[in-house]
Parts: sequence; C-alpha cells; structure tokens
Amino acid sequence: MATFRFLRSATLLCLAKICATQETTPSPAELAAYGTAWEASQHASSDAVWYETPDNFSSTLKPGVVLKIEYATDLTNYTVPASLSMSRIIYTTLDVHGAVLPTSAYILWPYHALPENDTLGYDAVLWAHGTSGLFAPCAPSNYRSLQYHFMVPYLLANQGTVVVAPDYAGLGVGSFANGTKINHPWATSPAQANDMAYALQAARSAFPQYLAPGGPYVAMGHSQGGRAAWGFTERQAVSPVVGYRGTVLLAPAASPIDIIEQAIENPDAPWSIPGQTLQILTIQSVTAVYPSYKWAGFTNVSANIFFNAYEKFQGCLPTQNILYGALPPSQYAQRGWTNASEVKAWQELTRVGNKRFAGPVLLLAGNNNGSDGIIPYDLPISASILSSVHHLCGLMEKGGWEESLQVVGYKDVNHFPVIQASEGMWLDWIKQRLNGAAPGPPSGCSIGSKKAFRGGKDSFQTIPPNFLVEWANATDQWQYSL
Ligand SMILES: *[C@@H]1O[C@H](CO)[C@@H](O)[C@H](O)[C@H]1NC(C)=O
Ligand SMILES: *[C@@H]1O[C@H](CO)[C@@H](O)[C@H](O)[C@H]1NC(C)=O
Ligand SMILES: *[C@@H]1O[C@H](CO)[C@@H](O)[C@H](O)[C@H]1NC(C)=O
Ligand SMILES: *[C@@H]1O[C@H](CO)[C@@H](O)[C@H](O)[C@H]1NC(C)=O
Ligand SMILES: *[C@@H]1O[C@H](CO)[C@@H](O)[C@H](O)[C@H]1NC(C)=O
Ligand SMILES: *[C@@H]1O[C@H](CO)[C@@H](O)[C@H](O)[C@H]1NC(C)=O
Ligand SMILES: *[C@@H]1O[C@H](CO)[C@@H](O)[C@H](O)[C@H]1NC(C)=O
Ligand SMILES: *[C@@H]1O[C@H](CO)[C@@H](O)[C@H](O)[C@H]1NC(C)=O
Repeated sequence: MATFRFLRSATLLCLAKICATQETTPSPAELAAYGTAWEASQHASSDAVWYETPDNFSSTLKPGVVLKIEYATDLTNYTVPASLSMSRIIYTTLDVHGAVLPTSAYILWPYHALPENDTLGYDAVLWAHGTSGLFAPCAPSNYRSLQYHFMVPYLLANQGTVVVAPDYAGLGVGSFANGTKINHPWATSPAQANDMAYALQAARSAFPQYLAPGGPYVAMGHSQGGRAAWGFTERQAVSPVVGYRGTVLLAPAASPIDIIEQAIENPDAPWSIPGQTLQILTIQSVTAVYPSYKWAGFTNVSANIFFNAYEKFQGCLPTQNILYGALPPSQYAQRGWTNASEVKAWQELTRVGNKRFAGPVLLLAGNNNGSDGIIPYDLPISASILSSVHHLCGLMEKGGWEESLQVVGYKDVNHFPVIQASEGMWLDWIKQRLNGAAPGPPSGCSIGSKKAFRGGKDSFQTIPPNFLVEWANATDQWQYSL
C-alpha cells in the first residue's frame, strides 16, 4: 500500500502544474491525465502488446503452465543494475473461485554463473509486491524500476539470488483474447498466493537450466504483498510448492477491512486518512471477486472519480493519490458500506492469520504507537498487525503447531522505511534459510523489538521511501556520472 505525501490543499494540487495555466480547480479527468502521463514516463515500454493474452491460452489449461517467454528483456529503459539480466513470462494462474487466468511475472537473474555441473540451480526469492494499482498498466514488470528497485529485487539479485516476481492477475495482462476484462482482486490473499505459487512453477518450467524443480526458495512480501505472502504460508500448509525454506513478511496488510473501519472511527489519528484510502482499492476488489456487488459502496462523487477518471485513464497508485487526495475521505464511500454481505464474505475469504501455516516466518514492522502510518503494528486496536499475531500465536499454542513465527518491531519506523531499517536482518535470514543453516529458527512464537541507534526524531520517516530512482534518456547519459 504505497501511499504518499498527500496532496490535500489547492496549493499542493498546483504541484500538478495544471493550475498554473488555469484559474479553476482541475477536474478529475485533468488530474488523471496529468497523473497517468507521468506514470507512463516511468514505464519501460508504452507498448501494451506484450501483455496481451497469448493465442495458446485456454481456460481448460492447468495452472502454472507457461504461455510466453521473453528470454532476455531489453533493459535499456529499466534502471536494473548493469550486469543483471531479466526475463518476463506469461503463465496460467487460478483466481479465488478456481478459474484459470493468464498473468505475467518478471524474473531477475544474478550475474554470477552456477558452478560447473550444478544440478541444483539458483536459489530464489519469490517476491510479492505491495499495492501498485488496480489496472493493467500497473504491472511492476513494466515499471522502469520494478517498483521496489534497490529496496528489494535489485539488492537480492546483486547478492546472487534469483527474484521471481508475479505482477498479480489483472495487472499486466488485463483482458482475455475476447476482450473480457480480468479485474485485479486487490489484497485477495488466496488469489495472490496462487499467483506466487504458479509464477514459481512456471519459471521453473520455462528455465529448467537455471531453476531446479525443487530448488530452495524463500517467499517474501511487503504491504499488500506481505498479505499475499502470509496467504502463501497458509497455502503451503495445504498445497506445498517444493523447495520452500520460509517466508519474510514486511509490514503485512493483516486486516484491511478493520483498518478501514477503525480509520473511519478515529478521524484524528495520523493513520486515519491513509487507512481510509484503502476503501477505493477494497470496493474494486470486492467487485472483482463478487461481480454482483457492483461497487455499491462508492458515494456518487467517488464513483464519478473512479469511473470517469481513475479507471478511464487506467491510473495507478500515484494517480489514485492525486485524484482522491482532492476529496475529503468522508466522501470516499457510503457510511456503513463494509456491512454489505459481499464485503463480509470478502473479508472472510481473504482473512489471514486464522489457520495453519508453513514456516518459518519472520515478520518485521515499524513499532511504537503507530509509527507505520498506514498499517498499524502495535496500536491497541483489532486492525493492528500485533492483534493478528497474538490471535495466531494463541492458535499455535492451543493446536500444538510446531511452526516458527518470529516477529520483530522496529522502533519509530514507517511503512516503507522498515524495509531498509530491517534489511540486515532479513537478508541474513534469507541467506541462512537458503543455505539450509542449522538449527533453523526455534518453533513457537517470539515477539521482540529492535531499538534504534538514532531513530525517532533523528531519522527521516514517511509512509513511502525517501527516494525515487530516476532515469536519464539516451541523450542524457552524461547525467549517470552524478
Ligand atoms: C524505450 O523508451 C523509448 C522512449 O519512450 C522508446 O522509444 C523505446 O521504444 C523504448 N525501448 C524499449 C526497448 O522498449
Ligand atoms: C504457448 O506458446 C509458447 C511460445 O511458443 C510456448 O513456449 C508455450 O509452451 C506454449 N504453451 C502452451 C500451453 O501451449
Ligand atoms: C563436470 O562433468 C564432467 C563430465 O562428467 C567432468 O568431466 C568434469 O570433471 C565435471 N566438473 C566438475 C567441476 O566436477
Ligand atoms: C471470454 O473468455 C473468457 C476466458 O476464456 C471466458 O471466461 C469469458 O466467458 C469469455 N467472455 C465472453 C463474452 O465470451
Ligand atoms: C447518486 O446517483 C444516483 C444515480 O444517478 C441517483 O439516483 C442518486 O440520487 C444520487 N445520490 C445522491 C446522494 O446524489
Ligand atoms: C453494521 O451492522 C452492525 C450490526 O448490524 C451495526 O451495529 C452497525 O452499526 C453497522 N455499522 C454501520 C457503520 O452501519
Ligand atoms: C501515541 O500517538 C498519539 C497520536 O499521535 C498521541 O496522541 C499519544 O500521545 C501517543 N502515545 C504515546 C504513549 O506516545
Ligand atoms: C531526452 O532528453 C532530451 C534533452 O533533455 C530531450 O530533448 C528529449 O525530448 C528527451 N527524449 C525523450 C524520449 O524523453
């Protein structure tokens, strides 16, 4: 759930430069045009043809089947570190009702060669990205910086690990060959867990020379992706993909509906406005999963922005921030909308933390009185990650589950900064799991915290990361020397 510095006042909206040229407040369509033009400049390619459903797709195929392979992606327009290489695939996955869908993934390859006669293949991290948006252009595999750049995929690949990263159904491949849309079911954890499992299976079958059928891998995700990876640990308990060595959850979106309801109830809390923006994503997701719901939760003004600007222009999260930043959160959705039966059903269907899982799991989040400005970790409310963790730890104890769940709070850090603050810990942990370090983490629940050396007021904290990887075009290559 990458959120933002909110653009609230008219003055801030003028950052969108369009009010420099006109007197009146820009319309939603004008804002969307502005936002999507910038987003397009951050895409590796403006050619959507690559993401069209391949001719050999059929809804009778098994999931995990490869439909298209781009062996070596042209990286000219990406910021991928030189020496790495990348592939993209289109493969089949299953939606939450069991229907077969086409979807895409990228695979980032390290530089170093495998030892001679190696039969084990590369180690892999199965990476689940956070919210990028709701529509086809929001596929990280076509983002110049793969959305998480040096924070996660570049770092892992530079260390010698293959990164297999699903875009998620509905992002990238946005429709079937007959034109019927494939809607992205945002934060529908069992669906994204399928996208993860079948991405790895398809990557192994597309590249058997590099990825052994049972090669070691760790699953990992942040935010929406943390929720997906949490769902993946539950999928592993019933339908395991072999080679699994554990999962890292970074600031996982444990309970979006609870966050929404409690954000509405606590309008003055610092996490209230970001929490309320999740309504836009959730209303679309409930409709993707239960089409009869038909976006019923939107207010008229919110529906107008959604259909006539956000969806029409196929915006992604940055454009959502511009569009809805201009509307008071109380107007995003109708009062009491989360009481609808479809919303309750979606909440149950997508719930994480209430069933058996396969570990070991390492969960890392920013603690201390809601320092994560969008997904509360340790606030005394049911929306907080810790309240899900305590519930799960109770189930583990009562059920005598021999699993390992290690939770570490990082004092004073926010939603994206936790990735950096905890990097040393998760990187070591992943390497130990992939190397089969014994003994592994002890079974049971452990909840701890890390003190900051110069945290709190001294370290810079915002919901998003404090950097944007820029790119210079071919005529500006001299800028790379900075
Ligand atoms: C890279 O971007 C430029 C400018 O948008 C475009 O003309 C070119 O086709 C792109 N190259 C690839 C390989 O997508
Ligand atoms: C679809 O076609 C691609 C490219 O020819 C091929 O690699 C893939 O195996 C095919 N998949 C199926 C299910 O036919
Ligand atoms: C690799 O296999 C070949 C053929 O079996 C053998 O000659 C060679 O010594 C092996 N290399 C190593 C490093 O084991
Ligand atoms: C389009 O194709 C998909 C997948 O095969 C199918 O589920 C859907 O019903 C089709 N839509 C129409 C309008 O034929
Ligand atoms: C919202 O739109 C619907 C359909 O256009 C209309 O019937 C209804 O009166 C509107 N509600 C409000 C509060 O404006
Ligand atoms: C949702 O339903 C419950 C139980 O029927 C009710 O107590 C509550 O007020 C409703 N919430 C809203 C926001 O309407
Ligand atoms: C927690 O944060 C709230 C809102 O920012 C603030 O009012 C409260 O004093 C804080 N409590 C502690 C114990 O720091
Ligand atoms: C690349 O940069 C030059 C110089 O700033 C500019 O004139 C040109 O339009 C740019 N090309 C693209 C494709 O952005």
